[in-house]
Amino acid sequence: MNSFGSNFRVTIIGESHGPGVGVVVDGCPAGLELVPADFVEDLQRRAPGAFGTTPRKEIDVPQILSGVHQGRTCASPLLVWFENSDTDSSSYESISRTPRPSHADFTARAKYGGYADARGGGMFSGRLTAGLVAAGVVAKKLLKGVDIQANLIQVGGSVDVEGEIRDAVGQGDSVGGLVQCELKGVPVGLGEPWFDSAESLMSHAIFSIPGVKGVEFGSGFECAKMRGSECNDSIVDLDGKTSTNHSGGINGGITNGNDVVLRVAFRPTPSIAKAQKTIDLRTGAPAEIRIDGRHDACIARRATVVVEAACAVVMADLMLSHQLLDRVLGQG
Ligand SMILES: Cc1cc2nc3c(=O)[nH]c(=O)nc-3n(C[C@H](O)[C@H](O)[C@H](O)COP(=O)(O)O)c2cc1C
Repeated sequence: MNSFGSNFRVTIIGESHGPGVGVVVDGCPAGLELVPADFVEDLQRRAPGAFGTTPRKEIDVPQILSGVHQGRTCASPLLVWFENSDTDSSSYESISRTPRPSHADFTARAKYGGYADARGGGMFSGRLTAGLVAAGVVAKKLLKGVDIQANLIQVGGSVDVEGEIRDAVGQGDSVGGLVQCELKGVPVGLGEPWFDSAESLMSHAIFSIPGVKGVEFGSGFECAKMRGSECNDSIVDLDGKTSTNHSGGINGGITNGNDVVLRVAFRPTPSIAKAQKTIDLRTGAPAEIRIDGRHDACIARRATVVVEAACAVVMADLMLSHQLLDRVLGQG
Protein backbone atom coordinates (compact mmCIF):
# COMPACT_ATOMS: atom_id res chain seq x y z
CA MET A 1 0.00 0.00 0.00
CA ASN A 2 1.10 3.59 0.46
CA SER A 3 2.07 3.29 4.11
CA PHE A 4 5.36 2.03 5.54
CA GLY A 5 6.79 1.43 9.00
CA SER A 6 5.61 -0.07 12.29
CA ASN A 7 6.19 2.49 15.02
CA PHE A 8 7.04 5.51 12.84
CA ARG A 9 4.48 4.96 10.11
CA VAL A 10 4.62 7.07 6.97
CA THR A 11 1.77 7.42 4.46
CA ILE A 12 2.41 9.23 1.17
CA ILE A 13 -0.61 11.18 -0.15
CA GLY A 14 -1.64 13.27 -3.15
CA GLU A 15 -1.15 13.41 -6.92
CA SER A 16 1.23 15.40 -9.10
CA HIS A 17 -1.47 17.62 -10.62
CA GLY A 18 -4.15 17.31 -7.92
CA PRO A 19 -4.64 19.84 -5.12
CA GLY A 20 -1.33 18.88 -3.52
CA VAL A 21 0.98 16.24 -2.10
CA GLY A 22 2.05 15.39 1.41
CA VAL A 23 2.69 12.89 4.13
CA VAL A 24 1.01 11.55 7.25
CA VAL A 25 3.38 10.37 9.98
CA ASP A 26 1.78 8.29 12.69
CA GLY A 27 3.73 7.37 15.81
CA CYS A 28 6.03 10.36 15.95
CA PRO A 29 7.11 10.84 19.58
CA ALA A 30 5.37 13.71 21.38
CA GLY A 31 7.25 16.82 22.37
CA LEU A 32 9.51 17.20 19.30
CA GLU A 33 9.92 20.87 18.38
CA LEU A 34 8.66 21.25 14.81
CA VAL A 35 8.00 24.36 12.74
CA PRO A 36 7.57 24.81 8.96
CA ALA A 37 11.07 26.34 8.70
CA ASP A 38 12.57 22.96 9.67
CA PHE A 39 11.59 21.59 6.27
CA VAL A 40 13.11 24.31 4.11
CA GLU A 41 16.70 23.08 3.71
CA ASP A 42 15.85 19.51 2.63
CA LEU A 43 12.97 20.68 0.40
CA GLN A 44 15.35 23.02 -1.38
CA ARG A 45 17.77 20.16 -1.99
CA ARG A 46 14.92 18.24 -3.65
CA ALA A 47 13.64 21.23 -5.61
CA PRO A 48 14.46 21.62 -9.30
CA GLY A 49 16.69 24.44 -10.46
CA ALA A 50 19.97 22.80 -11.43
CA PHE A 51 20.68 22.16 -15.12
CA GLY A 52 18.72 19.20 -16.49
CA THR A 53 15.92 19.40 -13.91
CA THR A 54 12.25 20.06 -14.62
CA PRO A 55 11.28 23.71 -15.22
CA ARG A 56 8.19 23.11 -13.02
CA LYS A 57 8.45 25.58 -10.13
CA GLU A 58 6.63 24.59 -6.97
CA ILE A 59 7.05 26.88 -3.96
CA ASP A 60 6.64 23.95 -1.56
CA VAL A 61 5.50 25.88 1.49
CA PRO A 62 5.01 23.17 4.13
CA GLN A 63 1.65 23.34 5.88
CA ILE A 64 1.48 21.40 9.14
CA LEU A 65 -2.23 20.57 9.26
CA SER A 66 -2.24 18.10 12.15
CA GLY A 67 -0.01 16.74 14.87
CA VAL A 68 1.67 19.90 16.17
CA HIS A 69 0.46 22.08 19.04
CA GLN A 70 2.36 25.10 20.36
CA GLY A 71 5.38 24.24 18.22
CA ARG A 72 5.77 20.63 19.38
CA THR A 73 4.47 17.33 18.12
CA CYS A 74 1.40 16.44 20.14
CA ALA A 75 0.99 12.67 19.48
CA SER A 76 -1.85 12.82 16.93
CA PRO A 77 -0.89 11.89 13.34
CA LEU A 78 1.33 14.53 11.79
CA LEU A 79 0.12 15.81 8.41
CA VAL A 80 2.46 17.90 6.28
CA TRP A 81 0.88 19.20 3.08
CA PHE A 82 2.26 20.98 0.01
CA GLU A 83 -0.14 22.65 -2.40
CA ASN A 84 0.46 22.13 -6.10
CA SER A 85 0.63 25.58 -7.66
CA ASP A 86 2.43 25.12 -11.00
CA THR A 87 0.59 22.36 -12.83
CA ASP A 88 0.27 22.11 -16.61
CA SER A 89 -1.59 18.97 -17.63
CA SER A 90 -1.85 19.79 -21.35
CA SER A 91 0.91 17.41 -22.46
CA TYR A 92 -0.67 14.47 -20.65
CA GLU A 93 -3.79 14.04 -22.76
CA SER A 94 -2.04 11.91 -25.37
CA ILE A 95 -0.33 9.80 -22.70
CA SER A 96 -3.65 8.22 -21.75
CA ARG A 97 -3.73 6.79 -25.31
CA THR A 98 -0.05 6.10 -25.87
CA PRO A 99 1.66 5.12 -22.59
CA ARG A 100 5.23 6.25 -22.07
CA PRO A 101 7.73 3.38 -22.26
CA SER A 102 9.03 2.47 -18.78
CA HIS A 103 6.78 4.94 -16.96
CA ALA A 104 3.81 3.75 -14.90
CA ASP A 105 1.18 4.88 -17.46
CA PHE A 106 0.56 1.35 -18.76
CA THR A 107 0.72 -0.50 -15.42
CA ALA A 108 -1.49 2.07 -13.65
CA ARG A 109 -4.10 1.84 -16.38
CA ALA A 110 -4.04 -1.95 -16.33
CA LYS A 111 -4.33 -2.04 -12.53
CA TYR A 112 -6.81 0.77 -11.88
CA GLY A 113 -8.98 0.58 -15.00
CA GLY A 114 -8.22 4.12 -16.13
CA TYR A 115 -9.36 5.72 -12.86
CA ALA A 116 -5.85 6.60 -11.65
CA ASP A 117 -5.06 10.28 -12.17
CA ALA A 118 -2.55 10.20 -15.03
CA ARG A 119 -1.88 13.95 -15.07
CA GLY A 120 1.79 14.61 -14.41
CA GLY A 121 2.30 10.93 -13.62
CA GLY A 122 -0.39 11.09 -10.87
CA MET A 123 0.70 9.24 -7.75
CA PHE A 124 3.76 7.83 -9.56
CA SER A 125 5.34 11.23 -10.01
CA GLY A 126 8.64 12.27 -8.45
CA ARG A 127 6.57 15.17 -7.05
CA LEU A 128 5.31 12.84 -4.32
CA THR A 129 8.82 12.56 -2.93
CA ALA A 130 8.20 15.97 -1.28
CA GLY A 131 6.13 14.09 1.31
CA LEU A 132 8.86 11.52 1.91
CA VAL A 133 11.44 14.28 2.30
CA ALA A 134 9.17 15.95 4.88
CA ALA A 135 8.93 12.67 6.83
CA GLY A 136 12.71 12.41 6.57
CA VAL A 137 13.12 15.85 8.14
CA VAL A 138 11.06 14.75 11.14
CA ALA A 139 12.97 11.45 11.39
CA LYS A 140 16.35 13.20 11.17
CA LYS A 141 15.33 15.53 14.01
CA LEU A 142 14.60 12.47 16.13
CA LEU A 143 17.87 10.72 15.25
CA LYS A 144 20.28 12.59 17.47
CA GLY A 145 23.79 11.22 16.94
CA VAL A 146 23.01 9.52 13.63
CA ASP A 147 24.27 11.45 10.63
CA ILE A 148 22.84 10.56 7.21
CA GLN A 149 24.35 11.92 4.01
CA ALA A 150 23.77 10.95 0.41
CA ASN A 151 25.72 12.14 -2.62
CA LEU A 152 25.40 11.74 -6.35
CA ILE A 153 28.61 9.89 -7.22
CA GLN A 154 28.05 8.94 -10.87
CA VAL A 155 25.86 9.86 -13.81
CA GLY A 156 25.78 7.66 -16.88
CA GLY A 157 28.59 5.56 -15.33
CA SER A 158 30.89 8.61 -15.14
CA VAL A 159 31.96 11.00 -12.36
CA ASP A 160 31.50 13.87 -14.83
CA VAL A 161 27.99 14.63 -13.60
CA GLU A 162 27.56 17.95 -15.42
CA GLY A 163 29.06 16.67 -18.68
CA GLU A 164 26.87 13.55 -18.78
CA ILE A 165 23.67 15.47 -18.04
CA ARG A 166 24.54 18.17 -20.58
CA ASP A 167 25.25 15.53 -23.20
CA ALA A 168 21.96 13.72 -22.54
CA VAL A 169 19.92 16.94 -22.62
CA GLY A 170 21.64 17.98 -25.85
CA GLN A 171 20.43 14.78 -27.45
CA GLY A 172 16.87 15.06 -26.15
CA ASP A 173 17.63 12.13 -23.88
CA SER A 174 17.85 11.31 -20.16
CA VAL A 175 20.51 9.58 -18.11
CA GLY A 176 20.74 7.34 -15.04
CA GLY A 177 22.72 8.00 -11.88
CA LEU A 178 24.21 6.40 -8.79
CA VAL A 179 23.60 7.80 -5.30
CA GLN A 180 25.72 6.74 -2.33
CA CYS A 181 24.34 7.13 1.17
CA GLU A 182 26.35 6.85 4.39
CA LEU A 183 24.83 6.58 7.86
CA LYS A 184 27.30 7.35 10.66
CA GLY A 185 26.63 6.76 14.35
CA VAL A 186 24.13 3.94 13.82
CA PRO A 187 23.93 1.92 17.04
CA VAL A 188 24.80 -1.76 16.99
CA GLY A 189 21.87 -4.19 17.11
CA LEU A 190 19.15 -2.63 14.88
CA GLY A 191 17.19 -5.02 12.67
CA GLU A 192 15.88 -8.57 12.85
CA PRO A 193 17.46 -11.70 11.33
CA TRP A 194 14.83 -12.34 8.66
CA PHE A 195 12.19 -10.23 6.94
CA ASP A 196 12.75 -7.13 9.04
CA SER A 197 16.51 -7.16 8.57
CA ALA A 198 18.04 -3.67 8.48
CA GLU A 199 18.89 -4.27 4.80
CA SER A 200 15.37 -5.47 3.96
CA LEU A 201 13.68 -2.49 5.59
CA MET A 202 16.01 0.07 4.05
CA SER A 203 15.73 -1.52 0.59
CA HIS A 204 11.94 -1.66 0.97
CA ALA A 205 11.77 2.06 1.67
CA ILE A 206 14.33 2.99 -1.00
CA PHE A 207 12.74 0.86 -3.74
CA SER A 208 9.53 2.81 -3.13
CA ILE A 209 11.21 5.91 -4.56
CA PRO A 210 10.16 6.23 -8.22
CA GLY A 211 12.97 5.42 -10.64
CA VAL A 212 15.05 3.22 -8.28
CA LYS A 213 16.23 0.03 -9.99
CA GLY A 214 18.97 -1.21 -7.66
CA VAL A 215 20.17 -1.04 -4.06
CA GLU A 216 23.43 -2.52 -2.76
CA PHE A 217 25.06 -2.46 0.68
CA GLY A 218 28.80 -2.23 1.24
CA SER A 219 30.60 -3.86 -1.67
CA GLY A 220 27.24 -5.22 -2.87
CA PHE A 221 27.42 -6.94 -6.24
CA GLU A 222 31.23 -6.69 -6.20
CA CYS A 223 31.18 -9.24 -3.31
CA ALA A 224 30.22 -11.90 -5.83
CA LYS A 225 33.64 -11.48 -7.47
CA MET A 226 35.66 -11.67 -4.24
CA ARG A 227 37.25 -14.34 -2.06
CA GLY A 228 36.32 -14.54 1.65
CA SER A 229 39.83 -13.49 2.64
CA GLU A 230 39.28 -10.26 0.72
CA CYS A 231 35.62 -9.60 1.54
CA ASN A 232 35.52 -10.46 5.26
CA ASP A 233 35.73 -7.42 7.51
CA SER A 234 38.29 -7.99 10.32
CA ILE A 235 36.97 -7.01 13.75
CA VAL A 236 39.44 -4.74 15.52
CA ASP A 237 37.81 -3.77 18.85
CA LEU A 238 35.16 -4.71 21.38
CA ASP A 239 32.68 -2.24 19.84
CA GLY A 240 32.76 -4.33 16.69
CA LYS A 241 34.68 -1.80 14.57
CA THR A 242 36.06 -3.42 11.45
CA SER A 243 39.13 -2.60 9.35
CA THR A 244 37.13 -2.72 6.11
CA ASN A 245 33.39 -2.37 5.45
CA HIS A 246 32.48 -4.70 2.59
CA SER A 247 29.38 -5.67 4.61
CA GLY A 248 28.10 -2.10 4.60
CA GLY A 249 27.61 -2.02 8.37
CA ILE A 250 25.11 -4.88 8.57
CA ASN A 251 25.62 -8.57 9.42
CA GLY A 252 22.84 -11.09 9.89
CA GLY A 253 20.34 -8.33 9.18
CA ILE A 254 21.59 -6.47 12.26
CA THR A 255 23.60 -3.25 12.29
CA ASN A 256 27.15 -3.98 13.45
CA GLY A 257 28.17 -0.54 14.76
CA ASN A 258 30.11 0.49 11.64
CA ASP A 259 28.85 3.02 9.10
CA VAL A 260 25.92 1.77 7.07
CA VAL A 261 26.91 2.35 3.45
CA LEU A 262 24.59 1.79 0.49
CA ARG A 263 24.32 2.74 -3.13
CA VAL A 264 21.14 3.33 -5.11
CA ALA A 265 20.86 3.03 -8.90
CA PHE A 266 18.38 5.42 -10.51
CA ARG A 267 17.16 4.71 -14.02
CA PRO A 268 17.24 7.37 -16.72
CA THR A 269 14.01 9.40 -16.69
CA PRO A 270 11.36 7.64 -18.80
CA SER A 271 10.02 10.87 -20.35
CA ILE A 272 12.39 11.95 -23.12
CA ALA A 273 12.16 14.18 -26.18
CA LYS A 274 13.62 11.48 -28.45
CA ALA A 275 11.17 9.36 -30.41
CA GLN A 276 10.12 6.18 -28.59
CA LYS A 277 7.98 3.26 -29.65
CA THR A 278 4.79 2.40 -27.83
CA ILE A 279 1.28 1.34 -28.80
CA ASP A 280 -2.05 3.12 -29.22
CA LEU A 281 -4.23 1.63 -26.47
CA ARG A 282 -7.45 2.17 -28.48
CA THR A 283 -6.30 0.22 -31.52
CA GLY A 284 -3.27 -1.81 -30.41
CA ALA A 285 -1.38 -0.34 -33.36
CA PRO A 286 2.28 0.63 -32.99
CA ALA A 287 2.78 4.31 -32.21
CA GLU A 288 5.68 6.69 -31.82
CA ILE A 289 5.84 9.36 -29.10
CA ARG A 290 8.07 12.27 -28.19
CA ILE A 291 7.59 13.74 -24.72
CA ASP A 292 7.72 17.50 -24.75
CA GLY A 293 6.42 18.20 -21.22
CA ARG A 294 8.48 19.45 -18.29
CA HIS A 295 10.79 16.69 -17.09
CA ASP A 296 14.02 15.98 -15.24
CA ALA A 297 16.81 14.68 -17.46
CA CYS A 298 18.46 12.94 -14.50
CA ILE A 299 16.24 11.83 -11.63
CA ALA A 300 19.22 11.02 -9.43
CA ARG A 301 20.29 14.68 -9.31
CA ARG A 302 17.27 15.61 -7.15
CA ALA A 303 17.03 12.29 -5.35
CA THR A 304 19.96 12.35 -2.91
CA VAL A 305 17.85 13.95 -0.19
CA VAL A 306 15.01 11.54 -0.97
CA VAL A 307 17.33 8.58 -0.32
CA GLU A 308 18.41 10.20 2.95
CA ALA A 309 14.75 10.58 3.92
CA ALA A 310 13.98 6.91 3.21
CA CYS A 311 16.96 5.85 5.36
CA ALA A 312 16.03 8.27 8.15
CA VAL A 313 12.45 7.01 8.27
CA VAL A 314 13.67 3.41 8.63
CA MET A 315 16.21 4.37 11.29
CA ALA A 316 13.57 6.23 13.33
CA ASP A 317 11.23 3.26 13.05
CA LEU A 318 13.95 0.81 14.10
CA MET A 319 15.11 2.94 17.00
CA LEU A 320 11.55 3.27 18.29
CA SER A 321 11.07 -0.50 17.92
CA HIS A 322 14.30 -1.12 19.85
CA GLN A 323 13.29 1.43 22.50
CA LEU A 324 16.34 3.56 21.76
CA LEU A 325 14.06 6.56 21.19
CA ASP A 326 11.66 7.86 23.82
CA ARG A 327 7.94 8.18 23.03
CA VAL A 328 7.88 11.49 24.89
CA LEU A 329 10.74 13.95 24.40
CA GLY A 330 12.03 16.93 26.33
CA GLN A 331 10.92 15.88 29.80
CA GLY A 332 12.93 16.21 32.98
C1 LIG B 1 12.79 13.30 -7.80
C2 LIG B 1 12.21 12.53 -8.97
C3 LIG B 1 11.88 13.20 -10.14
C4 LIG B 1 11.35 12.52 -11.23
N1 LIG B 1 11.06 13.23 -12.38
C5 LIG B 1 10.57 12.57 -13.44
C6 LIG B 1 10.25 13.28 -14.64
O1 LIG B 1 10.43 14.50 -14.72
N2 LIG B 1 9.76 12.57 -15.68
C7 LIG B 1 9.58 11.23 -15.65
O2 LIG B 1 9.15 10.64 -16.61
N3 LIG B 1 9.87 10.52 -14.54
C8 LIG B 1 10.35 11.16 -13.43
N4 LIG B 1 10.64 10.44 -12.30
C9 LIG B 1 10.58 8.97 -12.33
C10 LIG B 1 9.23 8.37 -12.48
O3 LIG B 1 8.36 8.83 -11.48
C11 LIG B 1 9.36 6.85 -12.46
O4 LIG B 1 10.34 6.42 -13.34
C12 LIG B 1 8.05 6.20 -12.83
O5 LIG B 1 7.12 6.38 -11.78
C13 LIG B 1 8.16 4.71 -13.09
O6 LIG B 1 8.60 4.06 -11.94
P1 LIG B 1 9.90 3.14 -11.97
O7 LIG B 1 10.93 3.85 -12.78
O8 LIG B 1 10.27 3.03 -10.51
O9 LIG B 1 9.49 1.83 -12.56
C14 LIG B 1 11.15 11.11 -11.17
C15 LIG B 1 11.47 10.44 -9.98
C16 LIG B 1 12.00 11.14 -8.90
C17 LIG B 1 12.37 10.38 -7.65
